[in-house]
Amino acid sequence: RDWDVVVVGSANADLVVGVDRRPGPGETVLGSDLATHPGGKGANQAVAVARLGGRAALVGRIGDDGHGALLRDALAADGVDLAQLTTTPGVPTGVAMITVGPDGDNSIVVSPGANARLGPADVAAARDLIAAASVVSLQLEVPLPAVEAAAHAAAGTGGRVVLNLSPPAPVPADLLALCDPLVVNEHEAARLLDEDARPAGHADSADPAGLAAALARTGPRSVVITLGADGVVVTDAAHAAPVRVASPRVKAVDTTGAGDAFTAALCLRLARGDALPDAARYAARAGAAAVRAHGAQSSFPTADELPEPG
Ligand code: RIB
Ligand code: NA
Repeated sequence: RDWDVVVVGSANADLVVGVDRRPGPGETVLGSDLATHPGGKGANQAVAVARLGGRAALVGRIGDDGHGALLRDALAADGVDLAQLTTTPGVPTGVAMITVGPDGDNSIVVSPGANARLGPADVAAARDLIAAASVVSLQLEVPLPAVEAAAHAAAGTGGRVVLNLSPPAPVPADLLALCDPLVVNEHEAARLLDEDARPAGHADSADPAGLAAALARTGPRSVVITLGADGVVVTDAAHAAPVRVASPRVKAVDTTGAGDAFTAALCLRLARGDALPDAARYAARAGAAAVRAHGAQSSFPTADELPEPG
């Protein structure tokens, strides 16, 4: 296949301000100087794959504005294929308003802009690209019809579908059934199970292995739950007992984009033929690397820069 990973997803300009604490309603606080970084979960993943040495392409939409140019330049500089990144006239590029707290924690509000215009027609136009991908990576910062079309196109041409359920939203059962794996953090996992009426879905959220087993029963082919510094839990297609993988210990500077680096590295290793637990072990190193530095794409590692396994 020509591509390790084709990402169908969002591109945002990240407007980042550091704060000691976040304002409540009606309150004003002063923060740091503004930093503007290329971001968006889709673009982040494409860059993370390319930086680790993978062949990556992005299917997405940006606006005809300065933020769009920033994103296009950043993606091109990392060697991401942009033949299916469409410029949408008269619509702003997606923007993420991000505050970063003293512990490297972030809060994000996304204005989707051009990302909201990505639809099944864009996926149809990218048909050949998707058919040539080992893995098609999806998130939920673009409209669900585009995500569904991409998942079905990939599955129909023998590609592997990876869905990161971020930001969390309900997904139809036929989409879930294509996910191999579904990638979620603990909060997203618990939410998905709450929304699931099937009794087998319920589990104790304090027990990650139990969460993974319960999620596996809701329909995806395999499940990966990220636990931040506490590592990863994986349940593969055979639905054997969940496997726990450790994360390297790193000092958190800015966690923004760590989930994207993780998922991208996971997709790349799956594209190269790793078993899911091995891919997760590698991905945990990429996620940890991204926590050590400011910004999303600006913090992503090359293969040489990965920390030792946890
Ligand atoms: O996952 C991190 C990303 O989420 C940021 O780059 C921001 O754009 C939001 O989409
Ligand atoms: Na980061």
